[in-house]
Amino acid sequence: MEAPLPHLNSVSRRRFLRQSFAFSALASLGSSAWAGASASTQAASDAGAAELLMVGDWGYDDDQAAQSQVASGMRRYVGDKALTPQALLMLGDNWYGELTGGAQSPRWKTQFEQMYPADVFRGPAYAILGNHDYQKWPDSKVEAELAYAMNAHTRWTMPSRWYTFEFPAKDPLITFIALDSNMPFKDGTSEHGKDFTLTSAQQAEQLVWLEEELKRPRTTPFLVVMGHHPVYSDGPHGDHPVLVRDWDPMFQKYKVDVYLGGHDHDLQHLEFEGHPTTHFLSGGGGADLYNLKVDQTTRGPFAQKVYGFSHLSVTERQLTLRHIDPSGRILHAFTKTPEGKISILT
Ligand SMILES: [Fe+2]
Ligand SMILES: [Zn+2]
Repeated sequence: MEAPLPHLNSVSRRRFLRQSFAFSALASLGSSAWAGASASTQAASDAGAAELLMVGDWGYDDDQAAQSQVASGMRRYVGDKALTPQALLMLGDNWYGELTGGAQSPRWKTQFEQMYPADVFRGPAYAILGNHDYQKWPDSKVEAELAYAMNAHTRWTMPSRWYTFEFPAKDPLITFIALDSNMPFKDGTSEHGKDFTLTSAQQAEQLVWLEEELKRPRTTPFLVVMGHHPVYSDGPHGDHPVLVRDWDPMFQKYKVDVYLGGHDHDLQHLEFEGHPTTHFLSGGGGADLYNLKVDQTTRGPFAQKVYGFSHLSVTERQLTLRHIDPSGRILHAFTKTPEGKISILT
């Protein structure tokens, strides 16, 4: 199930660098982009870029020390770099543990509204559902999250379990497709005690919808898909057989630029030879960290067991994605053009 797929050669960091010129997508990349990354190219902001921050696996219940540390790191980073983020992406596992009161739970205030405050993060917080959200604890946290989004005062945005939006709102540069990756259990059922999933009917309905969305004529330079579960991951959950089977061929066919996920509690950036899609995973928002299963030297270019968050900047010419630790240190950063050219900055 987790054996490497024959058509996808894994790329180590070193091999990624060495082989990059053979990649059709990277063929026109100059060597200076790899070797000559200077402090100036690592600047946190491109002039005129639209910015957003993202965080995954954040609403931890056991203790909020790590979540608070990451969130204060996000606030400090925005202040230090004088950024004006126009949105947040909340990449699922929004609520671990019990959410008594549902949409009225006090956790909304302490662990979302105040944790990522509106005076720093003014725009919408686009949220998707993780496996921990798919729990009846005591009632469906999925229903609570959909209901909370109906409040007029909140930035929490979840119009349905899967949806699309454009970013930024004015003169959009990215079409986002937000998906629900909670596939039925291996035995085909969708209820195990307090845990549940999409039903098989919902799974099929979403897949038809996804292809309809992907088929639409592109109106923005970039197309980004987000789902809580990674399609490919160097973390303990590994590659997801259902998503590899159902989603990945569509990402290739319709040339999805980036897939964003979380679920494994670490930060990753994976590239595959001949594959148009960058896999960028940000699961370090506060829940206990996991040991990686595959080292970044085997499949990368980047996978690190570390708390943190991620920053996306976009102009018409390029996307810039960065993984950042709670102290504000940029651990990994790269750009990608609409033609698929990737340059690693850090
Ligand atoms: Fe998680
Ligand atoms: Zn998860």
